[in-house]
Amino acid sequence: MLKITPVILAAGQGTRMKSKLPKMLHQVCGQPLIFHALQAVQAFTSEKPVMVIGHGAEAVQAAVGETVRFVIQAEQLGTGHAVMQAEQLLNGQTDLVLVTYGDMPLLRADTVQKLVETQKANPGPLTLLTVIAEDPRGFGRIVRNAAGTVAAIVEEAQAGPAELAIKELNVGAYCFRSEWLWAALKQIPLSPKGEYYLTDTVAFAVDANLPVQAIVMDDMAETIGVNSRVHLAEAEAAMRQRINTGHMLNGVTMIQPETTYIEAGVSIGRDTILWPNTYLYGHTSIGEDCVIGPNTLIRNTKIGARCRVLMSDLEGAVLENDVDMGPFARLRKGAHLGSHVHMGNFGEVKDSHLSEGVKMGHFSYIGNAEIGPNTNIGAGTITCNYDGVKKHSTTIGEDVFIGSDTMLVAPLTIGARARTGAGSVVTKNVAEDTLVVGAPARAIKKLERSHD
Ligand code: UD1
Ligand code: MG
Repeated sequence: MLKITPVILAAGQGTRMKSKLPKMLHQVCGQPLIFHALQAVQAFTSEKPVMVIGHGAEAVQAAVGETVRFVIQAEQLGTGHAVMQAEQLLNGQTDLVLVTYGDMPLLRADTVQKLVETQKANPGPLTLLTVIAEDPRGFGRIVRNAAGTVAAIVEEAQAGPAELAIKELNVGAYCFRSEWLWAALKQIPLSPKGEYYLTDTVAFAVDANLPVQAIVMDDMAETIGVNSRVHLAEAEAAMRQRINTGHMLNGVTMIQPETTYIEAGVSIGRDTILWPNTYLYGHTSIGEDCVIGPNTLIRNTKIGARCRVLMSDLEGAVLENDVDMGPFARLRKGAHLGSHVHMGNFGEVKDSHLSEGVKMGHFSYIGNAEIGPNTNIGAGTITCNYDGVKKHSTTIGEDVFIGSDTMLVAPLTIGARARTGAGSVVTKNVAEDTLVVGAPARAIKKLERSHD
């Protein structure tokens, strides 16, 4: 078994991004560039990847965590110099070194795998990925000799007119024989721009009559290297399309995929329909047979089966099955709607549990509350949960009827089957089966219990 170790280059400043943020932390579909790069190489080797960091090292390290071994490139003297920083850690410790750049978020794990497999069969020291494209995007050009084999990579800054016209480009992913790589890196001359280019190693192999293999890719999107915000937007669009296509192939209907934004960590069940302008962020999961949107934002929320969410904004919430909400409803963190809850327009729920069958049809605020099954929350109900200093909780039993425009001044408990009159301001606990009215509300009647 050959040992294969990935080395991801992530030390560059990303000058062309014109940003305070290190390039590696700019996001594509909700995840930093560097996460995408990591996913592509982690899929098939058990060796812990080495990540070369430098610019914004602390922030990158904090974002990536313990899943890689970090080496520092103190001065960013080019991609060849960056790989050199991994030599101390890897020389004699691995058979193959897989080098990728952290700014290629679309590169797929199976493409990387193909690269490695090709190098395993290559008697020469390296294999690389290339792509043929009309727009050169500032990529290095692949020069081939008369026999059609790769002869060199020429960086755009060094290229003459004939080379600039070449349509075959260097993608920026390579698999090297380890011991050959470390020796070759030491031969790289300083470029006129003051950098040591990793790409110069190709010509060394050719000069020594050692075969260089190239895999020509056909998916241009996969090769996007993010150097500017224009590329970032291209990567975002390509990744979004890839994600959406994946969901559609898994049985999700999208009425208009171009306006449906789904981040990488989202899961969606079969036969769910997404209407236009739906945004699904973070760790969101949606069950089967739901209808979501149009015009809906859902972040870090878990939604069961057969739910309907129309023109609403949800964050950090849980919806069980058969919940019906919107239009214009808002769930904030800790909102938990039980099955068959109906939440209509202009409601807001935060840190509260609405049990099965609760109905809350119109403009209400429910915060820090526990509401029992089948209770009806009348239009305009407010849990007055904040006294200016602290939050207080409200507990409402089952089958309660809260009349329109009731103010529930917390801390407060309302017993099962109680009712409040329209416009009540409830400041004291209400016993079961009791009707209260007025401001402040007082009990006027013990209610008869229906025996069903
Ligand atoms: C590089 C390639 C080019 C290829 C293109 C594909 C070289 C010399 N050129 O150009 O042939 O077509 O990628 O996207 O390799 N980095 C470091 N330390 C450094 C410099 C760079 O870690 O000192 C890292 C960067 O963070 C980045 C990667 O290496 O992730 C590539 O650097 P970048 O400056 O983006 O190179 P390109 O100009 O895109
Ligand atoms: Mg780049």
